Amino acid sequence: MSVRLVWEGRDDAPLASEGALVHVEGEGPHEVVEGPNLPALRALLATGRTYGLAYLDPPYSSAADYAHTDGRAAYSDKWSDRDAYLTALFPCLRLVHALLAPHGTIWVQVDHRASGLVQPLLDEIFGAQRLRNVIAWRRAPPLGRQVQSGQFPRNLDLLFAYAKSDKPRWHPVWGLLPFDKKKARLDPTNGRYFTTAPRGDYTDESVARLEAEGRIHRTESGKVYVKYWLEQGEDGQLYKPKAVDAVWDDVAPLRHASPKERTGYPTQKPEPLLARIVESTSDPGDAVLDPYAGSGTTGVVAARLGRPFTLVDQSPAALDTMRARLRDLPVRWLRT
Ligand SMILES: C[S@@+](CC[C@H](N)C(=O)[O-])C[C@H]1O[C@@H](n2cnc3c(N)ncnc32)[C@H](O)[C@@H]1O
Repeated sequence: MSVRLVWEGRDDAPLASEGALVHVEGEGPHEVVEGPNLPALRALLATGRTYGLAYLDPPYSSAADYAHTDGRAAYSDKWSDRDAYLTALFPCLRLVHALLAPHGTIWVQVDHRASGLVQPLLDEIFGAQRLRNVIAWRRAPPLGRQVQSGQFPRNLDLLFAYAKSDKPRWHPVWGLLPFDKKKARLDPTNGRYFTTAPRGDYTDESVARLEAEGRIHRTESGKVYVKYWLEQGEDGQLYKPKAVDAVWDDVAPLRHASPKERTGYPTQKPEPLLARIVESTSDPGDAVLDPYAGSGTTGVVAARLGRPFTLVDQSPAALDTMRARLRDLPVRWLRT
């Protein structure tokens, strides 16, 4: 059953508006818009600009209020019912869709409470065929008391990635797994360590090609193995490259980040999570949009990776956190 049939709060209003953004201070290329995201996005749309990447980390319908560690209220995630939550999110997703460039990708992060609500909205707006990935991020290791809670620990966030067209930006990402040196072999011709795997269903032609690349290892009995090169850290530790897949259990929770990275803003996400998103689905120079910016993690990472950003948030605590965090970057501050 589609959302269209079960949900009364659908908003088909025209997207762009007359409203313009008011310049507060500073100069870009980066931007922060202070205020609610719907008028901000409508005003951005009216300028005709587009974004290569959008990351949304909205409230998760968690029925909780969130505060900064300094005690100030940050934002409320309490909704009268499911429709009120969808009524707030749906027009935002429509506007982001309209703001994406043809090569653009949207990422939406939620947890078990909202994932079943959000995916049908994205299917409706982008088309189910534009779904690129559902990523499971293990956001925290299970705690002892969760294991006793009568269910598996609820320690996943889900990230939905949808593309605007069938030709989005895409760069595969490789991770490195520590590899035991005792199990590695050394190639004396180039000084590199390698591991091996049986030739499997490689054809003789493929084996000949790999041989020419120096990637065939023959045992004394003449058995053929394929070599896989290992990376070596400065401390001598060996690592095996591994293509990152849809289960992200190698991105540590924020509480493991350095004190410098932790801003005290609730629900702040770790920078390596955003780095993986930005690097995999945008190019340097692509503009990055985050309409639920919180502490500004998306902006910090986008700027470091050479992408201009537009962040939006309506919470005074979030805006103060961003002011401190982005103070060394050229940012044009705007308001709705
Ligand atoms: C989960 S937090 C985002 C955290 C962020 N990803 C980070 O790393 O810090 C959600 C944010 O959305 C903001 N927000 C919620 N509704 C909004 C709206 N309608 N307009 C603008 N900001 C909104 C809240 O103030 C809050 O800062």
